[in-house]
Amino acid sequence: MEKVIAILEGDGIGPEIVREAIKVLNAIESKYNHKFTLNKAPFGAGAYFTEGSPFPEKTKLVCDEADAILKGPIGLAVEKMSDIPKEHRPEQGALLPLRKRYDTFANFRPVQLPKELASFSPLKESVIGDGIDIIMIRELVGGIYFGDKTEGASTGMKYAKDECPYTYDQVERVARVAFEEAQKRKVQLCNIHKSNVLATSRFWNEIVETVAKEFSGVPYSSILVDNAAFQLVKNPSQFNGIMLTENMQGDILTDQGGGIVGSLGMLPSVCVGPEKCYAEAAHGSAPDIAGKNIANPFSMIGSVGLLLDKSFNLKDEAEDINNSLFKVFKQGFLTADLTTPDSAKDKILSTCDFGDKVVENIQGG
Ligand code: IPM
Ligand code: MN
Repeated sequence: MEKVIAILEGDGIGPEIVREAIKVLNAIESKYNHKFTLNKAPFGAGAYFTEGSPFPEKTKLVCDEADAILKGPIGLAVEKMSDIPKEHRPEQGALLPLRKRYDTFANFRPVQLPKELASFSPLKESVIGDGIDIIMIRELVGGIYFGDKTEGASTGMKYAKDECPYTYDQVERVARVAFEEAQKRKVQLCNIHKSNVLATSRFWNEIVETVAKEFSGVPYSSILVDNAAFQLVKNPSQFNGIMLTENMQGDILTDQGGGIVGSLGMLPSVCVGPEKCYAEAAHGSAPDIAGKNIANPFSMIGSVGLLLDKSFNLKDEAEDINNSLFKVFKQGFLTADLTTPDSAKDKILSTCDFGDKVVENIQGG
């Protein structure tokens, strides 16, 4: 297969983890006889300083012409962000516009922890049980993230307002994607909502339940988001399968998923649109550890696997990447974010060494 992939390295640890992701992509290319042409383009806070925009026109062109996009995390330390005008900050000026441009409405974030790696979790081994295997599917281009935002004053009182609009079609399409995934994987689907308070959640549920009727073979349940947060910690594997969420609730629960499996460094992600997908790690740019070669590249590398699956339907390649990633940990190695005071120091891998181990596993498997 011959494909073009746009590479947006991003900020902070972005360049160093994207480098490892590319190593793995190259290993897959050789093993399975593909040709991926990689086109780099500036994106994020760094791009604002060098190009005057966090999502420059030339980057849009590179992305438009690519078959898929691989994107590193973006953003600077909070105190440095104030050097950038609000509209050019990487979230408002680059990330949300990227999601909107390619209408990447379905964000897949697998929260996985095989039972052999239960010690990574802050939860007791008995709580991890036979392991966690959840795919959180988060609606990504609707709701409060993209609703009108107002800041003003009325009768002398200052106020701010974020609207949370959802259309029927927006809910239906992500629900359908989630049920199709559940059907394909032969797993249950749990729908997350806050229908005891929010009109958008009641609307959301009505549509999800209509779609559920078309998928009678998929075990279906729904749960209030606050209860889901609680249950995820008490007994995460009860959700093994698909969890479907709207945008904001999904943002929060997916980070919680990272906490449960031990690190946000363990949370890959792919954002699926009608024509194009882009991959990004679910975590931020960790400016405090940037350039030290200690970041965990698992999320970024895992995102490559998801991208190959969702963009090009390369299932074997995606599985190979996922297995090779977990194998590094099963071989007893760790990354800095996963260490505890009793971890063996000689087992802690640098960013680069972790990437090399994944490549070895791909080549050896
Ligand atoms: C994520 C991030 C983004 C989000 C931020 C950087 C705008 O937290 O991808 O989860 O809130 O969607
Ligand atoms: Mn987030």
